[in-house]
Amino acid sequence: MSGWCGEISMLRPAVAVLNGCNLNMLGQRNHEHYGTITLAELDDLVTGRAAALGFAACTCFQTNHEGAMVEKIQQLSQSVDGMIINPGAWTHYSFAIHDALELVAAPVIEVHLSDIAKRKEEWRRRSVISDVCARTISGKGPAGYLEAIGWLAERL
Ligand code: DQA
Repeated sequence: MSGWCGEISMLRPAVAVLNGCNLNMLGQRNHEHYGTITLAELDDLVTGRAAALGFAACTCFQTNHEGAMVEKIQQLSQSVDGMIINPGAWTHYSFAIHDALELVAAPVIEVHLSDIAKRKEEWRRRSVISDVCARTISGKGPAGYLEAIGWLAERL
């Protein structure tokens, strides 16, 4: 009986939350688009929810270097059960991140704090990664990350 319980806990899923360029500056960026939350607060919020929903691990990662993000995605591609990514401005032009996300076996959720479809710059309204993501959540602020974790929890 105890062996069986042990196996169940080993099967509890792991999730990764990846934030791209300039998201380390949350709190200082335009409050109208990104609110006042800092990245540390956002990471705490998301890891807390992941733990409450039964995830065994929630890896939070942020980088301003595209190659580092590609390498992190490659590294996690076969080991996580769900991935949440806000690539920041890379969303709009990084085919390298698109191709790395294609390698991820688990569902990937694209999240944006602001509603990119309604932003004034035309280039910002296009995402080159949406087609390799199971879902896109945009314009819900930090709640979008929580919705993504909830969506993954329901499916895993
Ligand atoms: C963003 C939107 C992007 O256009 C922007 O470059 C970001 C953040 C968002 O979360 O709304 O850095 O991905």
